[in-house]
Amino acid sequence: MLDAVGDVFLCSNVTWALLTVLVSLLWWRSTRPLSDVPPGPRPMIPILGNILQLETDPRKQFAKFRRRYGDLFSLYIGNKHIIVLNGFETLQDLLVKGGDKLSNRPDTKTMEMVGGYKGIISTSGKVWREQRMTSLALLRKLDFGKQSMEDKIQEESVYLLDAIAKENGMAFDPNPVIGNAVSNITCNMIFAQRYDYDNDHFQLVLHMINETLHMVGAFSAMTFFPFLDYIPGDVFGVGKVKANLEKFSEIILNPMIKHNIDNYDPDNCNSFIALYLKEMYARKTSGKETALDVKHLEQVVSDLLAAGTETTTSTLRWLLLFMATNPEVQAKCYQDVQTHVGNGRKPVLTDRDNLIYVQAVITETSRLAAVIPMGAPRSVTEDMWYKGYRLPRNSMIITNLDSVLMDEKIWGDPKVFRPERFVSEDGKLIHREELIPFSMGKRKCMAETTAKIELFLFFSHMIQKFRFITEPGKPAPGFEPAFGVTSAPRAFKICAIPR
Ligand code: HEM
Repeated sequence: MLDAVGDVFLCSNVTWALLTVLVSLLWWRSTRPLSDVPPGPRPMIPILGNILQLETDPRKQFAKFRRRYGDLFSLYIGNKHIIVLNGFETLQDLLVKGGDKLSNRPDTKTMEMVGGYKGIISTSGKVWREQRMTSLALLRKLDFGKQSMEDKIQEESVYLLDAIAKENGMAFDPNPVIGNAVSNITCNMIFAQRYDYDNDHFQLVLHMINETLHMVGAFSAMTFFPFLDYIPGDVFGVGKVKANLEKFSEIILNPMIKHNIDNYDPDNCNSFIALYLKEMYARKTSGKETALDVKHLEQVVSDLLAAGTETTTSTLRWLLLFMATNPEVQAKCYQDVQTHVGNGRKPVLTDRDNLIYVQAVITETSRLAAVIPMGAPRSVTEDMWYKGYRLPRNSMIITNLDSVLMDEKIWGDPKVFRPERFVSEDGKLIHREELIPFSMGKRKCMAETTAKIELFLFFSHMIQKFRFITEPGKPAPGFEPAFGVTSAPRAFKICAIPR
C-alpha cells in the first residue's frame, strides 16, 4: 500500500518536474530576445508573452511601442513571433517595393476557421494569385467599378432613402438599412439579386457578419492559442463564430451556389457565380492546372460579402456620425451638392470632380475612421533583411495602417476631423499617397474603386435629401469605436430631417 502511495507520489513528482521544465523552456523560448530581429517589449508571462501589455484596441499601445522601439517592433504571443510595421516609409518599402515577400497570410487556426485556406482572404501563393486575379477579371466583366455599378448603386440609394424617410425624422439606428443597402451592391454582383430591407433572413445574415467580425476574443484565441479550441465551453466565442459561419453557408451561400449550378447556362451568365462556373469548366476541360473549384467559389463569395459589407457600412456610419456632430461641415456638404447638382436629379459619378468638399469629407472620414486600422495579417515567405533587422520566415506581420493615418508628422493634427486638409488653396482636392485605409501593394483591398463609388453616391444622395442631427435631449453619441476585425462606431441613433 505504502509502496503504491510512494509510486503515485514519485510519479506526480516526476510529472511536476517535467511540467516545470516544459514551462521553463516555453518561458525561455518566449522571452529569449532574438538578437537580430526588430526589438520590442520583453514578454511578461510565459506562453502569454506580451498579450497582457495590449488592449483590445492596440492602437495607443502600438504608438507607444513605436516611439520607444522604432518603426519595426517585435511582439511574442503564444508561439508566434509578430513584427509590427509602422510608418509610411516602412510600409511602402516592404509592401510595395519589396514585391511579394510579405504577401502571404499566416498559417493560423483563425485563417483555417474563417476561410479553410480557400477563396481570397485566407489563401497564399499560387492559389491566392489565381483566385484573386480570376475574381478581379470576372468582376470587371460584370462592369464592377464602371457604369452598371453606378446604376445599381443609384437604384439602391432610392430604396435606402425611402427607408430613411419612413423614420419620419424620429431617432433611428442607421446600421441595418445602410448594411442592407451596401451588401445589396455586392449581392447584385455575386447573385444578380438584391434583398428587401424587411427580409428577416437577410437581416440575420447581416447580423451574423457584423457579430462575427467583432468577436475579437475568438480570433485572438484561435490565432495565438489554438489549443483553446479543445477546451469545453465557449469562453472565447469560437463556437459562436463557427456556428455563424455554418448558418451563413446554410441560409445563403449553399442554396445560391446550388441554384447557379443547377441552372447553369453558359450563354447567360449575369452573375459572378455563373461567370466563375463558366471559367472553372473552361479551365478544367482545357486540361489547364487550376485551383478554381466549387469549394473555392463558396469561399470567394463569402469573402466578398464579408469584406465588402462591414467596411463600407462602417465608413458610411462614421460619415453620418461626423455629420450629425459637425453641423457646419454638413451644411457645407449640402451647399456643395446644391451648387453642383441641385435638387432635381440624383448625384452621379461625374459630379465627383465638382463636389470637392463632399469628397474631402469622405476622404477625411476614411482617414480618421481607419475601419481596418491594422490591415489584415501577413506572414514572411522567406527570411529577409530590412534596415539591419532580420524578418524571419513565417513570422506574422501586422501592417499598422493607423500609424500612417494618424501620424502627426504627416497630418499635423491627426486626431482632429478637418476635411479642409484635403482642399488646396485654389479649391482642388489634394491627393495624399499616405492616405492608405485600403492598405498598399499587391494584397491591398481588391475593391477600392467600387468602395469609393459606393461611399460617394450613397453619401451625397443622403446629404441631398436629409439633414442629420443627433437625438434631441440625449447626449451626443461618442466616438470610441467598437473594435474588432474592423473599427466601427458603437450603435448610435440619429434623426434624418427631410430637406
Ligand atoms: C471603405 C471600404 C473598404 C475598406 C476601407 C477596405 C479595406 C481593406 C483592407 C485594409 C484590406 C486588407 C488588405 C491587406 O491584406 O493588407 C482589404 C482586403 C480586401 N477587401 Fe476591402 N475594403 C473596403 C471595401 C471592400 C469591398 C466593397 C470589397 C468587395 C466587394 C472588398 C473586398 C476585399 C477583399 C476580397 C480583400 C482581400 C484581398 C486579398 O486578400 O487579396 N473590400 N480591404
